[in-house]
Amino acid sequence: MIDEFDRNLIDAIGKESILYPSVEILVENKVAVRDGRGIFIGSGCCLYPRNRIVLGDMGANKTAHFMLADRVMINSGCYLSGEGSLTMGDDVLIGPNTCILSAGHAFTDPDKVIQKQPITYGPVVIEKGAWIGASSVVLQGVTIGEGAIIGAGAVVPRTIPPFAVAVGNPARIIKFRKPGQGPEAISMFNKIVRFFLKKSILK
Ligand SMILES: CC(C)(COP(=O)(O)OP(=O)(O)OC[C@H]1O[C@@H](n2cnc3c(N)ncnc32)[C@H](O)[C@@H]1OP(=O)(O)O)[C@@H](O)C(=O)NCCC(=O)NCCS
Repeated sequence: MIDEFDRNLIDAIGKESILYPSVEILVENKVAVRDGRGIFIGSGCCLYPRNRIVLGDMGANKTAHFMLADRVMINSGCYLSGEGSLTMGDDVLIGPNTCILSAGHAFTDPDKVIQKQPITYGPVVIEKGAWIGASSVVLQGVTIGEGAIIGAGAVVPRTIPPFAVAVGNPARIIKFRKPGQGPEAISMFNKIVRFFLKKSILK
């Protein structure tokens, strides 16, 4: 169920993948790109209604790329920015209304409006089998490890290790799904989040 307009923008799509007709792809100058970047969707994937894949100007921005492996399920209403590159592994599950942001805006010059400052990019990787809860926000440069879970409504500013369960804003690990990753690993991760948080508040 891909409409003609969207079909032309997708470089590859595997068998039995479904994109509902209301899925939008926002991209410019894609035809000029000949370096292997693009929109690649594996087999058995489903993008439910009103998802939006955002790549921006692929001619000007050399990082834009969007790749889903097999059996990725993306619930309705998500904003999926591949401007800084977005990759999802097999069997990833994304809850509705999630924002995955691989781009942002520099704001170093307080005398210049943010719109006129450079766009910043950072790849987002969601490894196989991870589950992102509804209405979460994943920020640029973040990797969500294999099999990790992000609770509904979380904001994820830092990489989450495999099989962790993280909730809240900023996302903190509350447990691991696999034995052998005890409280030491959790407290180390949460310390790192606090450290970066303090630094960004002091900026
Ligand atoms: C993250 C989640 C999977 C955790 O499930 P769980 O392991 O059963 O967790 P618990 O219910 O035992 O909660 C553990 C703690 O985390 C807190 N917590 C759980 N989910 C939370 C969330 N989304 N945000 C903030 N805190 C959360 C609980 O309040 C509890 O805190 P406490 O120990 O201080 O009481 C679940 O709560 C969740 O958010 N699921 C996402 C649902 C969703 O988005 N569905 C859409 C379909 S794709």
